[in-house]
Amino acid sequence: MSGRRVTIRPARRSEVATLAALEQRSFATDRLSARQYRRHVGSPSAVVLVAEGTGGAVLGSAVVFLRAASRVARLYSIAVDAAARGRGIGAALLDAAEEVARRRGRTVLRLEVRQDNPAAIALYEARGYRRIGARRGYYEDGADAWRYERALAGAGTRQ
Ligand SMILES: CC(C)(COP(=O)(O)OP(=O)(O)OC[C@H]1O[C@@H](n2cnc3c(N)ncnc32)[C@H](O)[C@@H]1OP(=O)(O)O)[C@@H](O)C(=O)NCCC(=O)NCCS
Repeated sequence: MSGRRVTIRPARRSEVATLAALEQRSFATDRLSARQYRRHVGSPSAVVLVAEGTGGAVLGSAVVFLRAASRVARLYSIAVDAAARGRGIGAALLDAAEEVARRRGRTVLRLEVRQDNPAAIALYEARGYRRIGARRGYYEDGADAWRYERALAGAGTRQ
């Protein structure tokens, strides 16, 4: 990571505006608002992770949804600040999201990705995600999604 240290940790309530701004910069449509982040940070059914760089800067984030009755966790958002991409931060966030889901007893992590997003598709496929289907017109602008999932090795054996 170019010698830079990055820590992945849970987001703080004080960071919701920063997270919404990162989301605005990272996605053209279907963006989480500050209000939605406020609801998810600290919710029992969601985990919001941030990648913190040296000096405390938020360089990336990931949002995982954990519905109570389901063994399937959902990666709802993952984004790395444009200036910090290509240094392994996205992969570190994905690792951490999987670990959180595994620790919470989920056996599968599932996600949607725009079919026109080769960087994210490459990230998921490099990490062993399997394409399980498509959703036509899934995004607000009508773009299609691929659906991917990965079984979480060792999941379900810990509380
Ligand atoms: C997708 C995203 C999170 C990747 O974050 P990142 O920190 O740049 O990713 P990493 O540096 O950890 O890269 C991990 C792997 O992803 C793939 N990857 C990342 N960027 C890539 C690119 N521009 N082109 C092709 N593959 C890419 C590669 O497989 C890479 O592994 P490698 O470096 O060993 O080749 C980042 O590009 C981003 O925030 N994009 C905008 C938001 C977004 O599209 N989120 C995904 C929504 S589903």
